[in-house]
Amino acid sequence: MKAVIPAAGFGTRFLTATKSQPKEMLPVYDKPIIQYTIEEAVASGIDDVLIITGRNKHSIENHFDKSYELEYTLQNAGKDRVLKEVRKITDLVDVCYVRQREQNGLGDAILCAERHIGDEPFAVLLGDTITKSKIPCTKQLIDIFNRYEKPTISLKTISNDKLNKYGIVEANQSESNIYKISRLVEKPKISEAPSNLAMVGRYILTSDIFDKIRQTEPGVDGEVQLTDALSKLDEVYGVLFEGKTYNVATRFDWLKASIEFGLEDSTKDELIEYMKTFIE
Ligand code: UTP
Repeated sequence: MKAVIPAAGFGTRFLTATKSQPKEMLPVYDKPIIQYTIEEAVASGIDDVLIITGRNKHSIENHFDKSYELEYTLQNAGKDRVLKEVRKITDLVDVCYVRQREQNGLGDAILCAERHIGDEPFAVLLGDTITKSKIPCTKQLIDIFNRYEKPTISLKTISNDKLNKYGIVEANQSESNIYKISRLVEKPKISEAPSNLAMVGRYILTSDIFDKIRQTEPGVDGEVQLTDALSKLDEVYGVLFEGKTYNVATRFDWLKASIEFGLEDSTKDELIEYMKTFIE
């Protein structure tokens, strides 16, 4: 299966960090957000990744490209461990790029992938979202897609105060963690949200989504929303994601994710000690 990673947005909620630096390239703990995303795709069995980029996004291409000078320097300095890490990034998977000319929204970004995807089902992983779980989030979706052969999206239950920040679905549970979706609303008013089930940035779609996007008028924030295009499909399934997601859209999201990842590494004890002293 191919994957599409939209990464062309302006990242306005994280300005000024994102003025000339793509949000997707900001490091969470020790690597760029989009590297976590690509690693999830690869761990889910995906071997072809298309990144949707825009202006100011060259650093994404550079990150996944070979850097001969850097490798040469590391090799000569005998820095074998870090050299291996650097090479691993380039060897991860085949990455292609297509540019979204205007930032007209997530739906419009996905439409840019039409030529590359053709008629096959494909995965979408938002480039500013990291997931963490035993079975990779995209793999969980692929397994359900293989059973139902219908567009499948990943869901999580969120608290009332966050309902206006996500795409929310109305759905009936059909199996323990599987829902048949009857309605999708992008960033509803909290009082009008149909449930607490939110979309978390991972989708398996079929090629009929492209026509639906073309038929979709700009919606919330004046953008062509993927949620609105999904609403036009006859059957969509949701899978309650078993794991954690980090949508790194603001500086506070970023800070929380970085601390959590730091607490899971060898830095854990030192970090706890530092925070304790600092807070005291
Ligand atoms: P977001 O809406 O979270 O990102 O889109 P954004 O638009 O960059 O951020 P804000 O709202 O201005 O703060 C989710 C993902 O879709 C991509 C983004 O790069 C992000 O990874 N995206 C969004 C596009 O590729 N194109 C767009 O037109 C919009």
